Amino acid sequence: MSHDTVAQNQSRCQLNDDDQVWLFGYGSLIYLVDFPYLESRPASIEGWSRRFWQGSHDHRGTVEHPGRVVTLIEDEGAVCGGMAYLVEAPVFKQLDLREKNGYLRVASEMLFDDGSREIGLTYLATADNEAWLGEASECEIARHICGSEGPSGPNDEYLLELASSLRELGLQDPHVFAIEAHILELKKQQS
Ligand code: SIN
Repeated sequence: MSHDTVAQNQSRCQLNDDDQVWLFGYGSLIYLVDFPYLESRPASIEGWSRRFWQGSHDHRGTVEHPGRVVTLIEDEGAVCGGMAYLVEAPVFKQLDLREKNGYLRVASEMLFDDGSREIGLTYLATADNEAWLGEASECEIARHICGSEGPSGPNDEYLLELASSLRELGLQDPHVFAIEAHILELKKQQS
């Protein structure tokens, strides 16, 4: 599968311009909200875990030196917390460009704090996309992130912003927080 998913997203998931659709964000879509939305609410999805296993060629790294960004992996019994946004369908044109490096829009059921549920869309990168990097230890991921940078800025900024927004939402994520601890240690050693 090509790592540029714009055409695939627009052909496999057609929306009408006047549709309003829930988007579930679990990575930079939590803290970098550069798109218009009608409503936002903390939400979670069940059966998925957040992992820094996707490569970034266009935001936090380059084709030659990809950064590491998050995707979701299936994980029975797990719950991944994030933020849901109600957006007007044309906004997905802008989102598809932002998420074009391997992410496909997939239908997902999101659960809100009041127990209500909505079906919406999530950008997900699977192991068959060309930018996929896959599993590594949290220590290796931290070293990789510390050495990466792309057009959207340093890769460690992505991780540190995500960790602090998860904390602000009152969410626990042992994978993200372990990488954060390694990065802060590496930074201490370098200073
Ligand atoms: C997301 O935030 O939901 C997708 C991954 C990213 O853009 O960081």
